[in-house]
Amino acid sequence: MDMMAKQTFAIPENVYAETVTLVQHYTDRLFRFRTTRPAAFRFRSGEFVMIGLPNAEKPVYRAYSIASPAWDEELEFFSIKVPDGPLTEHLQKIQPGDTILLRKKATGTLVNDALLPGKRLYMFSTGTGIAPFASLVRDPETYEKFEQVILTHTCRDVAELKYGQDLVQETLNDPLVGEFASGKLIHYPTVTREAFTHTGRITDLMRSGKLYSDLGVPPLDPEVDRGMICGSMAMLKETKEILEACGLVEGANNAPGSFVVERAFVD
Ligand code: A2P
Repeated sequence: MDMMAKQTFAIPENVYAETVTLVQHYTDRLFRFRTTRPAAFRFRSGEFVMIGLPNAEKPVYRAYSIASPAWDEELEFFSIKVPDGPLTEHLQKIQPGDTILLRKKATGTLVNDALLPGKRLYMFSTGTGIAPFASLVRDPETYEKFEQVILTHTCRDVAELKYGQDLVQETLNDPLVGEFASGKLIHYPTVTREAFTHTGRITDLMRSGKLYSDLGVPPLDPEVDRGMICGSMAMLKETKEILEACGLVEGANNAPGSFVVERAFVD
């Protein structure tokens, strides 16, 4: 972005302009970035916000899960790079020091409040769908509410798992959250397009029962198990059907249930 664009762009009233503090590229499809956090910006772990760049008079905004927990002094986002994507073709080029636009209101359904109390929380994610869970696994409240937190992450290949692997490692070593997460947080990464410890789509692993036998837990039970789902449209639909077939009921902020789905990222 050139200096002229920066100087002539007027920041709308419902938008924060924040500074990028870190950019990390994982593959040619995935990267994360961190930004400063406005002092007044409040959100619940698991929520999303609209993000844009000050590169046009009418910036393009896209929904992004906030991947950092509510207590973090910075904000983190995990992003795909869409070839010719109206936002991500520019966003993937950001550098520390650049400006990111952030609409002031965060919202979303992948929040602890939208779930009834339970024993075991499953977080089902594919690709960048792990982002809201990156926030929730770093929030002590998640471990106050559940005895076990199972983070499943399915990607095409092993390189795409790196963000989640680092996340889990850092969470367990974190001076604040590590104590809560240790012994409760279980990571179950799988890949679909190369060899790895666990292979296959999470949906197939649930249908075959392999997920449960690998984890050493009983199959989904609506009395004690809770779920959160974030991924592609097809993945959301299939996972939801499996959960419903097991007797789980979809919840929302105003009517907590036994599972929740985030539909903000799909068209
Ligand atoms: P697959 O390799 O069999 O397509 P993407 O990067 O395209 O969003 O996909 C992320 C992961 O989600 C891939 O491992 C992909 O598997 C998997 N996936 C795609 N569709 C579904 C679905 N309907 N249910 C579960 N997993 C899916």
